Parts: sequence; structure tokens; C-alpha cells
Amino acid sequence: MTDNEFGRAFTTMIILLIVMTFGLAFLGNLMARDVDDKLDAEREVSIQQVVADRIAPAGEITIGEAPALAVAAVEDVVLPGDEVYNSSCAACHGAGVAGAPKVGDAAGWTDRIAQGIETLYANAINGFQGSAGIMPAKGGNASLSDGSVQAAVDYMLEQSQ
Ligand code: HEC
Repeated sequence: MTDNEFGRAFTTMIILLIVMTFGLAFLGNLMARDVDDKLDAEREVSIQQVVADRIAPAGEITIGEAPALAVAAVEDVVLPGDEVYNSSCAACHGAGVAGAPKVGDAAGWTDRIAQGIETLYANAINGFQGSAGIMPAKGGNASLSDGSVQAAVDYMLEQSQ
């Protein structure tokens, strides 16, 4: 390789490298712009959200029947007996704690059933003090509707025949 040939090859290499450098810089720029655009769009959305949250009214006025309906729904809701039993009654009636008649123990329920179902419902809903211990109103869960407590009583009796 003569000096001349080397010089030409070297120059060509340098030029190629320079072209590549610009090419890469250009490509990089293109990509960065794409990402920037996306970030801007996201930022715009979250800023709008923040502003909307800040200027949202503190309360809402509902005109009409809605609140009354909501209250009625809570009072009327009747949960499945087994669900109520497990969440609010089983703590005492599951193992027969503190004088509570044990579910599944038929003998423990015969005399109680003899009083009539209405008495059992009433005693479960209002609570009562018997000779064996204290049955708290609704098992201590005041949020239960009367219907839910009755469903739990039905379930307990079914399991204790
Ligand atoms: C803190 C414990 C406790 C919880 C919780 C509890 N009970 Fe009782 N329950 C008792 C005790 C004690 C008695 C028996 C009282 C007695 O006869 O002296 C009883 C008695 C009863 C009786 C018999 C009533 C009667 O007239 O003989 C029924 C029915 C009853 N519970 C239903 C329920 C239902 C339904 C739940 C859940 C919603 C519940 N209990 C939750 C303690 C509990």
C-alpha cells in the first residue's frame, strides 16, 4: 500500500465515520422527539386531572328521592342466614360460649324451640337475659336488619335439628 493509497483509504474512513456520526445523531433526535411528545401528552392529562380534582365541589346536592331510597335499602337488606351466622353469631353459638346454646346440639334447642319461633326471633333481635347468660341484641351487630337476624335464627335452627 503506497502512502497515497493509504491516505485515500484513511480519508474515506474518516468521511464515513463523520457521516455515521451525523446519521446516528439525527436518528437519536427523531426518537427522542417521539418520546418527548408522549411524555408531554401524559403530563397534560395528569395536569388536567389535578386541576379537575382541585376545583371539584366539596359536596354534591342530590334533589329527589335518592337518599330516602338508599336508607330504605340498607334497612331492608336481608343477608343470607349462614353469612350472618358466621360473621355475628358463631363466636358464641359455634362453641356454646358463655351459656349460648350451641348450634348442632339439638337437645340444647328443644326447650327454646318450644317457645315458638316468634319468641326466638324477638329474643335474637332485641336481646335478652336468660338463666344461662346474656344474648346481646342482634348478637351485638346493630347494623343487621331484623330480616338478617331472622335468617340467621332460621339457619341456626336448621343446623340444630
Ligand atoms: C356474645 C355471645 C352471643 C352472640 C354473639 C350471639 N348470641 Fe345468641 N345467645 C347467647 C346466649 C348466652 C344465649 C342464651 C341466653 C339464655 O338463655 O340465658 C343466646 C340465645 C340465643 C337464642 C335463643 C333465644 C331463646 O329465646 O331461647 C337465639 C335464637 C339466638 N341466641 C340467636 C342469635 C343470633 C341469630 C345471633 C347472631 C346474630 C346471636 N344469637 C349471637 C349469646 C350470644
